[in-house]
Amino acid sequence: MRILIVGSGGREHALAWKLAQSPHITRLFVAPGNGGTARVAENVDIADADLPALVAFTLRKKIDLVVAGPELPLVLGLADALAQEGIPCFGPDAFAAQLEGSKAFAKTVMRAAGVPTADFMVFDDHLQARAHVLERPMPCVIKADGLAAGKGVVVCKTREEALETLDEMMLRDVFGAAGERVVIEDALVGEEASFLAFCDGTSFALMPSSQDHKAALDGDLGPNTGGMGAYSPAPVLPEADCAAMGDLVIRPILDYMAASGHPFVGILYAGLMFTPAGPRVLEYNVRFGDPECQPLLMRLDGDLLEIMLACTRGTLAQTPVRWKPQSALCVVMAAGGYPKSYPKGMEITGIDRAEAETGVTVFQAGTRAQDGRTLCSGGRVLGVTALGDTLAQARDAAYKGVELIHFDPCHYRRDIGSKGLGRR
Ligand code: AMP
Ligand code: GLY
Repeated sequence: MRILIVGSGGREHALAWKLAQSPHITRLFVAPGNGGTARVAENVDIADADLPALVAFTLRKKIDLVVAGPELPLVLGLADALAQEGIPCFGPDAFAAQLEGSKAFAKTVMRAAGVPTADFMVFDDHLQARAHVLERPMPCVIKADGLAAGKGVVVCKTREEALETLDEMMLRDVFGAAGERVVIEDALVGEEASFLAFCDGTSFALMPSSQDHKAALDGDLGPNTGGMGAYSPAPVLPEADCAAMGDLVIRPILDYMAASGHPFVGILYAGLMFTPAGPRVLEYNVRFGDPECQPLLMRLDGDLLEIMLACTRGTLAQTPVRWKPQSALCVVMAAGGYPKSYPKGMEITGIDRAEAETGVTVFQAGTRAQDGRTLCSGGRVLGVTALGDTLAQARDAAYKGVELIHFDPCHYRRDIGSKGLGRR
């Protein structure tokens, strides 16, 4: 079979690495890909949001399945455009992708489907939003409705901060059209975890729990990033609790989407917070998390292509989805300065040595291959990922790999997995 993966991050390298192991694959393409995907697949120079070019390539190369890595092409309607040509897409249609593309849509669906989430109100009018902030207790959380590259959520401790945030989003258009509508919700406190499921429109197969590290610096300090590391399982959501959690936060959404005439196909990702009053869904994503994908796929025991095809064919209930009992942990090595400004073009050395000597798998994110060398081309550069019999062993193995890899300036967190280890 001929497969096209859309995207260019560490997640997409992990997807390509895992799909390349399937005996059913004859050609594997990644658009646009990176230095790592070039090692296991053929990179195609098409941007992830260029739907016409993606569809044309898919027809020209007689692609059997398109796998969407990031949310943007799905929110723009990639699955719908492919469906018009009769090509299956692993990822939801544009209507269902609003679960990630519109915070107001997601919250309204959660309320209608009975999923526990922070109490909220939606505002299109700046003066009404101000009036609400002036009368409600603080803290609160203000979310730009649309996609804002992970930056559209502000936890406001004071009324002044909340009013300033409303001005930025609704008057000064800091997030463009994404901020014309806002969700204002109660601020919750608790540990977070990521909970993902493969979905075929009516049934789902749960993945083990995982946890991301969004802050740039150790101890969850510093600015938020796309994710500085991840591990699975996350002890805050043990295996024994997963089935009930699936019934609480995955099944009602699948039922709601199916009843709306848009059965959800692909990955439904619930961002959970474990509050003293019980678990709450902070957000849904409609794709693998990056970097959660890297440890999760290291643990997936079996053929990812067979699972993805079953999702597009509605046969997931008859398809085995098995996981290795070990823990997996991914340390992101970023360019110094990330998530603010950072240099590019530095040469990366030691990847092959780290893989050979420590058994880690190095998923590349912001890299490009040039003349046999691997160069930095983005903020998050590598995801050094290891399996271990325990979380501590996976962590130790991943950091051994990190020590053998070099580029300058480089920054990584030294405490990936510490919350999970602290719970043991
Ligand atoms: P979201 O994109 O909705 O997941 O928000 C990004 C991050 O903002 C989450 O991972 C949380 O750390 C934080 N967050 C979102 N909603 C809330 C909330 N209601 N209370 C506290 N923190 C929140
Ligand atoms: N790691 C969080 C996300 O992919 O949204």
